[in-house]
Amino acid sequence: MTYFSLADYQETAAAIQSRISIAPRIGMILGSGLGPLADAVEDAIYIPYGELPNWPVSTVEGHSGRLVIGKLAGHDVIVMQGRSHFYEGYTMQQVGLPVRVMKLLGVEMMIITNAAGGVNQSFSVGDIMLIDDHINLPGMIGQNPLFGPNVPEFGPRFPSMTDAYDPQLRSLATVVADELALTMQKGVYMALSGPTYETIAEIRFLQAVGADAVGMSTTHEVVTAVHAGMRVLGFSGVTNICNLGDGDAPNHEEVIEAGKVIAPNLTRLLQTLLARLDI
Ligand code: HPA
Repeated sequence: MTYFSLADYQETAAAIQSRISIAPRIGMILGSGLGPLADAVEDAIYIPYGELPNWPVSTVEGHSGRLVIGKLAGHDVIVMQGRSHFYEGYTMQQVGLPVRVMKLLGVEMMIITNAAGGVNQSFSVGDIMLIDDHINLPGMIGQNPLFGPNVPEFGPRFPSMTDAYDPQLRSLATVVADELALTMQKGVYMALSGPTYETIAEIRFLQAVGADAVGMSTTHEVVTAVHAGMRVLGFSGVTNICNLGDGDAPNHEEVIEAGKVIAPNLTRLLQTLLARLDI
């Protein structure tokens, strides 16, 4: 296995830097069907992932695969419109690369979103869930993005993951959701590698270990960001309720369809939240 060195991350960061004239301190990653959020970015510059060295290119429908850099609610932001996934064949370190590159560009806070299945049966399709904490199952079984030589310029060998999702930012998200009268669920996001959806027995397992939502992304990005000292805020858009035997089988089309309901609400929530942020 080859691992990225600091020079590799710097090469990618330099390629972006040469094309922008702002210094974003807020980064965002938009999950399946949530890409429309990037349309709210003003004075945007677009960089397709394929034009960047080392960058993992997403191949999944619903993921545009480009960086959108511009202004959102008064802040300079760098937004990933679409992400790549472990199940596409990339290593965890590859799918974590964009986060480290953003760190080198000066990003201090990451807002990470995903489409997820509702393990918690009290959730509804279209709900937004604020991620309080996560269970990084791929990481627990040997697929952690921090595997390999530590790059100390980013962070320590053994980083703490206590309060990985910044408590102050979570409080702010709660206040803003209340003000907007938006129903916002809260809970634990659990990552699996995908690309298969879960069996009924697996969903029972997820319930037993305390997961509220399940998906195929996010935790490797969060681990990479927290290691690098960034503040993280995470949201899941609930695109389907996990089937315990009495519902429908999940499919990618409903994930994209539900995104159409979730994206405008999430856009409103994030624009209002960003407007309040003093960063
Ligand atoms: N399981 C895993 N990933 C998902 C799901 C699901 O039900 N829905 C959206 N992403």
